[in-house]
Amino acid sequence: EESQSFYDAVGGEETFRRLVRRFYEGVVDDPLLWPMYPAEDLAGAEDRLSLFLMQYWGGPGTYSERRGHPRLRMRHNPFVIGGAERDAWLRHMHDAVLSLELPEELEKRLWDYLVYAAHSMVNAPDA
Ligand code: HEM
Repeated sequence: EESQSFYDAVGGEETFRRLVRRFYEGVVDDPLLWPMYPAEDLAGAEDRLSLFLMQYWGGPGTYSERRGHPRLRMRHNPFVIGGAERDAWLRHMHDAVLSLELPEELEKRLWDYLVYAAHSMVNAPDA
């Protein structure tokens, strides 16, 4: 129905958890990205990204209850994110998005947002 949130339309929490689980399966095998992530707190990292995306798309506001205002660019300042890091992040996210097998229109909306967000997170010139 028209008024349904995107969060509900794609299947709610379970879908976002699957997306992020699959994304991190790619990240842990990525020699460029994995060193940036907290190996000792992979479950925590999965939780933070899942909760953020759920909140962004109209689900529960648990992310901000726990973490406050997202301020994502600021939170990424500790990490050097150039074009290569952005593209690697997007490659794993693309695999993850496709794995959901969403209806085309929903898939496109999710993917377009992720591409835009990833481009906005770049904070370093390419070497
Ligand atoms: C956290 C890298 C893009 C959302 C992180 C962390 C790293 C990272 C290393 C720390 C993991 C943790 O402890 O939670 C990157 C890289 C990106 C990227 C290399 C490439 C462009 C994005 C995008 C989004 C996003 C596009 C949103 C759509 C988040 C969130 C957190 C996070 C919500 C947890 C923030 C917190 O509450 O502390 N990211 N990220 N990231 N990232 Fe990214």
